[in-house]
Amino acid sequence: MKLISNCTTDAILKAARALKDGQLVAFPTETVYGIGADATNVSAVGRMFQVKGRPRTHPVIVHISSITKLKYWARDIPECAQKLGDAFWPGPMTIILKRTNLASDFITGGQESVGLRVPKNKAALSLTQEFESLGGFGIAAPSANRFGSVSPTNASAVEDELATFLGSEDLILNGDQCEIGVESTIIDCTQRNPVVLRPGAITKEMIEQVTNLTVISKADKSEVRVPGLLESHYAPKAQVILGLGAKLGDGFIALSKIATPAGSIRLASPASIEDYGKDLYRALRRGDQLGLNRIYVVEPTGPGLAIAIRDRLSKASSGKGA
Ligand code: TXA
Ligand code: MG
Repeated sequence: MKLISNCTTDAILKAARALKDGQLVAFPTETVYGIGADATNVSAVGRMFQVKGRPRTHPVIVHISSITKLKYWARDIPECAQKLGDAFWPGPMTIILKRTNLASDFITGGQESVGLRVPKNKAALSLTQEFESLGGFGIAAPSANRFGSVSPTNASAVEDELATFLGSEDLILNGDQCEIGVESTIIDCTQRNPVVLRPGAITKEMIEQVTNLTVISKADKSEVRVPGLLESHYAPKAQVILGLGAKLGDGFIALSKIATPAGSIRLASPASIEDYGKDLYRALRRGDQLGLNRIYVVEPTGPGLAIAIRDRLSKASSGKGA
């Protein structure tokens, strides 16, 4: 595995060629780092699943450079998907649509739908563009963490997660700290009304405003499989407990206006909801690096991105004992 120390034009070109040759490339996006593979290459995608330790039946998101490339991967594209793409791409949004033949079972987990996203981060977008200019169609990229654990929001976190599993020709692009820090909003557009399968920075209100449709937020309305909906996903090794009860030696994460309980170790004190999203995964990782047993987290209240943060926190805190 090689770490490329920045995202220069040369580095992006090299990474695009590596992808085209069937190697894996981890890259920054505005949400979290992804571990990418050529979405039409069965063995590259197979290896990506192995590196992640993820069950093969779970679908992956295909990253493309523009809404104009949607037609290669998706068919019967409804007006609402077009409107959403026009409004929020490039950006932190994934749309689920009916697949074309290009979207094989190894991408969709055997489902008749495919998830697509145009990323906004400069390195990610350039990578999709260069990859396409080499004849590629899309980059399959789940978050660059081992299955079930916390998504990485910087390159060193990707190394911690995956370095021992990556091959000698695979690459990690060392770019920015992710700006949003929480995974993309996933919207199922295969039904009459958009269904939010995973909340993110593109909120229900934003989707309703653009589509003029009522959004259904309940993941269980849809028959698609989303591993992010499994219990104990996005979880660090430490036990995550929601609330203020941190004691001596426990980690503590809360908005900066909330005081640190005596004896606890402050892992993040974001001043805004945006900073909370950006800092959360890094703070959970820091708790693990410090070898903490418990991390207490006070959830942010309110709408918007706070909903996505509470969603991840409730998963991080489930299935881990008390
Ligand atoms: O922000 C993000 O979305 C990041 C960056 C790298 O783009 N990617 C990411 O990928 O979070 P992943 O695989 O960790 O989570 C994507 C979720 C999974 O829960 C997967 O089940 C769901 O998207 N998904 C992908 N294709 C789908 C499909 N056809 N139907 C339903 N869910 C799908
Ligand atoms: Mg993930």
